[in-house]
Amino acid sequence: MSAKPRALVTGGAGFIGSHLVDRLLKDGHEVVVVDNFSTGRPQNLAHHKGNKGLSLVQADASDHDAIKAHFAGVKWVFHLAALADIVPSIERPTDYFKANVVGTESVLEAARAAKVQRFVYAASSSCYGIPDEFPTPETAEIRPQYPYALTKRLGEELALHWGQVYGMPVVSTRFFNVYGPRSRTSGTYGAVFGVFLAQKLAGKPYTVVGDGNQTRDFTFVTDVADALVAAASSKVSGEIFNIGSGQTYSVNRLVELLGGPVTYIPKRPGEPDCTFANIEKIGRVLGWKPKIPLEAGVAEILKHIDYWREAPVWTPQSIADATQAWFQHLGPAKEKTRA
Ligand SMILES: NC(=O)c1ccc[n+]([C@@H]2O[C@H](COP(=O)([O-])OP(=O)(O)OC[C@H]3O[C@@H](n4cnc5c(N)ncnc54)[C@H](O)[C@@H]3O)[C@@H](O)[C@H]2O)c1
Repeated sequence: MSAKPRALVTGGAGFIGSHLVDRLLKDGHEVVVVDNFSTGRPQNLAHHKGNKGLSLVQADASDHDAIKAHFAGVKWVFHLAALADIVPSIERPTDYFKANVVGTESVLEAARAAKVQRFVYAASSSCYGIPDEFPTPETAEIRPQYPYALTKRLGEELALHWGQVYGMPVVSTRFFNVYGPRSRTSGTYGAVFGVFLAQKLAGKPYTVVGDGNQTRDFTFVTDVADALVAAASSKVSGEIFNIGSGQTYSVNRLVELLGGPVTYIPKRPGEPDCTFANIEKIGRVLGWKPKIPLEAGVAEILKHIDYWREAPVWTPQSIADATQAWFQHLGPAKEKTRA
């Protein structure tokens, strides 16, 4: 019998999921990836071609009948499959509800039937909205500002509820601004790294939101993979852990590290001026600490900059067009349109 548990990673062809798969395979686990390739890509796992320890299942997490058989013999489930951009969640909330809420329930039920030993849920710091306290602890008030944040929070509640009612050993991990090689390059306007790296390659100015003094808890992706493994290896259950870098960095600092010209675009409603995780709990309970500061992480990502060659190059105008729904639904104008 294999000493290492068989692990199943939903969303394993995505950015964070593929790094988790790297880590699990390196540790000698057998890994099953369930992904519908909506934003992830098989190329993110191409370096494991021929590795018999990895199986790739193309299926939608919400299609319970399609996924359930693949949970047989699985000990650890990491549920990362989700639609993960803000703007389309405002435009297409139903798709987000199906992927992030119905999908989570379907994965939980498959995990329950298979009697898995650990279920680790990928939650989001977006549940804190615009918090009162920095660094923000897990006990901060829940204030989702848009459907992506809400659906991720509902998924977290489902996971914890399955722990409470069915005794499933569940841990929820709330990620803060994850970055690193393979970060999403889908056509959607989204996370700052993908936007800036494509602009750098094209020799275009970085589109900095507001004055760039807003700060983000940029967390390197391999640190997140380590934390997920620490959560799965532990005996704790029913707990929520922030995963952050232990720092918060301004967007201007990021630009300084990347180097190049800048242009400024309007600040958006619903976005915090700071994201900053309080990581005392995960350090104390799981013994996990981040290892990669922003300077080292940016140097690493720049080694892989070719990955963003085919990513869209955003301009102030194309961002204004793409974020119309954001300003329309989350901005002050909504007061006027309410019945
Ligand atoms: N990147 C971040 O900063 C961040 C922050 C907080 C939380 N998260 C969470 O981490 C997880 C991974 O995010 P990511 O940044 O790697 O995004 P990603 O888009 O690269 O990965 C998501 C993966 O899930 C797959 N997927 C989406 N819907 C699916 C469905 N219905 N069925 C099966 N597969 C599906 C996609 O194809 C993709 O491979 C998500 O749950 C996201 O909400 C990410």
